[in-house]
Amino acid sequence: MLKRINLKQVRVGMFIEAIEGHWIDHPFWRNQFRLDRARDVEKLKSSNAAAVVIDTDKGLDVVSPSATKESAAAPKNPSLKRALETIEQSKPLITEMFENARMGGAVPVSHAAQAVRHIAICMQQSSRALIEVTRLKSRDEYTFLHSIAVSGLMVHLARAVDLDEETVRDVGMGGLLHDIGKMRIPLKVLNKVGPLSDEEMDQIRLHPRHGYELLARQGGVSRVILDICLHHHESIDGRGYPKGLAGSEISVPVRICSICDVYDALTSARAYKKAWSPTDAARFMLEQEGRFDRRLLMQFFHSLNL
Ligand SMILES: [Fe+2]
Repeated sequence: MLKRINLKQVRVGMFIEAIEGHWIDHPFWRNQFRLDRARDVEKLKSSNAAAVVIDTDKGLDVVSPSATKESAAAPKNPSLKRALETIEQSKPLITEMFENARMGGAVPVSHAAQAVRHIAICMQQSSRALIEVTRLKSRDEYTFLHSIAVSGLMVHLARAVDLDEETVRDVGMGGLLHDIGKMRIPLKVLNKVGPLSDEEMDQIRLHPRHGYELLARQGGVSRVILDICLHHHESIDGRGYPKGLAGSEISVPVRICSICDVYDALTSARAYKKAWSPTDAARFMLEQEGRFDRRLLMQFFHSLNL
């Protein structure tokens, strides 16, 4: 599990996954390594790095069990601070929506509107920080951080292609809710680390329909959001699911979601895989002939300065 910790909490035996800050702020030439020597611990503690991210699956954890991301040092970088605040403000809103969906209750969609307001403001001022911070996802935080990341990226791309602000809001809400149907899938299937059986894969592939049905049933949810929930795994060449839609049958908000969803999954660190660099993710996505809207994909990478 990845954990962002205070420099004071660093100790011998930890595996450093990332050092937060500019490379000139610390004396280490690589970012990922095991801290084996006491003098390296001292060097790190006395450096100007803002914080570090450790991988507790590969090395020791912090001494105090209460040491979590929330208790880490306040970041020096104001953009990073704003990004972390945005996540903290959005967390209870998103968690409640997802929990209600899991329990079969009504989803408080107004929470998504509230969270998108925070995310959209943050994407205007600190887009890079929010994108970077949400790439570090521990297993228990994955669903909600993925939702925030996809929402933020979708808002960013929707603005880059000049969609009107009302659609930008709906697109952002769609990003938060696109995978809500996964809450109806048994946790043992959803959290399985090894390869999935055909039957388990079929269950996972039902999540767009589950999400659509959940939101359509309760009413008052915009067409754009419903469309994103149901179709975000469709492919321009017609090889996606659930309906195998192709080309112009797939709306622009849905195309935006497909791009941002895959990009965030590729660039995120998971317990079982390293995060791909943005450039590697871009190269891979460009190689997927027929999967994405090519023009939007280029605009997306351009908007991220890739
Ligand atoms: Fe999905």
